[in-house]
Amino acid sequence: MKRILTVIGARPQFVKAAAISRVIQQQFSNQLEEILLHTGQHYDENMSAVFFDELNLPKPYVNLNLGASADNGQVKEMTTSIGRAIDELKPNAVLVYGDTNSTRAAAMAAQLSNVPLIHVEAGLRSFNKAMPEEINRIVADERSTLLFVPTEQGMKNLELEGFQLNNKPPFSADNPGVFHCGDVMFDNALYYSNLNNGSSEITNKCGVDDSDFMLATLHRNLNTDSGLNLSSIFKALVELVLIHNMYIVLPLHPRTRKMMQQLLSENQLSEIEQCEKLKLIEPVSYLEMIHLEKKAKLILTDSGGVQKEAFFFKRPCVILRSETEWTELVLNGNAIIAGHQSHQIIASVNTLLEQKQYTWPPYYGQGDAAYFICNCIKSYID
Ligand code: UD1
Ligand code: UDP
Repeated sequence: MKRILTVIGARPQFVKAAAISRVIQQQFSNQLEEILLHTGQHYDENMSAVFFDELNLPKPYVNLNLGASADNGQVKEMTTSIGRAIDELKPNAVLVYGDTNSTRAAAMAAQLSNVPLIHVEAGLRSFNKAMPEEINRIVADERSTLLFVPTEQGMKNLELEGFQLNNKPPFSADNPGVFHCGDVMFDNALYYSNLNNGSSEITNKCGVDDSDFMLATLHRNLNTDSGLNLSSIFKALVELVLIHNMYIVLPLHPRTRKMMQQLLSENQLSEIEQCEKLKLIEPVSYLEMIHLEKKAKLILTDSGGVQKEAFFFKRPCVILRSETEWTELVLNGNAIIAGHQSHQIIASVNTLLEQKQYTWPPYYGQGDAAYFICNCIKSYID
C-alpha cells in the first residue's frame, strides 16, 4: 500500500482532487491510501466546505486554517506546517494540483523532506510572471518526480524548458516521468454532468430564463486589484446587458466583492446595482456552476478552470485576460482573448455570438485522466 499525501487549499483544487479521490476510492483502494491536507487558503463555506460535501472528498486529516494571503510569510508558514505533516505521516509521495500558493508551499515542503512530488496539471505556462500562479507552477514542475500534463501545449512547454519527455523509470526529480494524460477536470465534467441533485434550480434561484443568459466569473489579481481594469470590465458587463437585453449571472469571488467596494466609484457601484439583469450572486457549488455553464449562451471569465469547462460544455468563451495557458481554445476559435478593455470585451462577445460554426476537438482526453494518473502512481512511486 502506498501512502499519498494530497495537499489542497483553494476552490479549483477541491474540484480537481475529487476526480483522483473518486478513482482511488473506487479502483485503487487496495494499492493507494490517500490522506488529504487542507491548507485553509480558501475558508468560506461556499469556497471550501460545500465542495467537500458535494464531491464526496475524504475528510482532511488536518486543516491548517492558514487563510489566504499574498504575503510571502504565509507560504513559509504553510511550507513549515506541511513539512511537519510529512514528517509525521511519512507518505510515499506528495500530490499537488495546479498553481496556487498552497501548491508552491507543498512542493517546497516535499523537496525539503526529500519526498517525491507529483504534479497534476503540469506544464502549463502563461509566460506572464506578474501572475503568482506562473511562479507557483514552475516551482512545482521543477521539483516533481511525476508530471501529469493535460495538453499537447503543456508537453511542448516542458520540452522547451529542457525537460526530457521520454525518461525511463526509476523516476526522480532529476529524471522525472512526464506524461500527457488529459485533464482531470474533463473527467469530472463527464462524471457529474448528468447528476441532478436539485442544482438545476440555480437558474430559477437567480431569476433568469433557463437559456437566455451569459455567465461570468472574475477573480484574477491583475483584474481585481487594479481600479482601472476592474471598472472597465464592469462597464462592459453593464453595456452587454443593455446591448443584448440578456441577463448576465456573475457568482462573485470574495476577493472581487471586496475589491469592488474598495476600488469602484460610488457612481459605478450604483449603476451596477441598478442594472437589474446583471445578477451578482454568491459563489455557487460545483454542480450549480456546471448547470449554469451548460445553460449559458456564452461565458466570460478570467478563471483557468471555467475557460475549460466552457469548452467541455460547448460554450464559446471570452477570456478576460491578456493571455491564456489553454491556447488550443483560442487557436480553434472556441475562445477569444479580450483582456480588460470594455470595447474589446463587447466586440469579442458580439463576434462569438454571431459565429455559427464551432468544432470541439478532444483536446482534454477521454475522461480517464484520473485512472491513468493513479495507475502511474501505483507503478512508479516506491
Ligand atoms: C487563489 C489562487 C488562484 C486561483 C484562485 C481560485 C494563489 C496565488 N491564487 O486566488 O490561482 O485561481 O485561488 O479561486 O494561490 N477570500 C475570502 N474567503 C475565502 C477565500 C478568499 O474572503 O474563502 C478573499 C480574501 O480577502 C483573500 C482574497 O479573497 O485575501 C484572495 O484569496 P487568495 O486565496 O489569496 O487568492 P485568490 O484570488 O482566491
Ligand atoms: N466554481 C464553482 N463555483 C463558482 C465559481 C467556480 O464551483 O462560483 C468552480 C468551477 O466550476 C471550476 C472551479 O471552480 O471547477 C474553478 O475555480 P476558480 O475559477 O476559482 O479558479 P481557477 O480555475 O481560475 O484557478
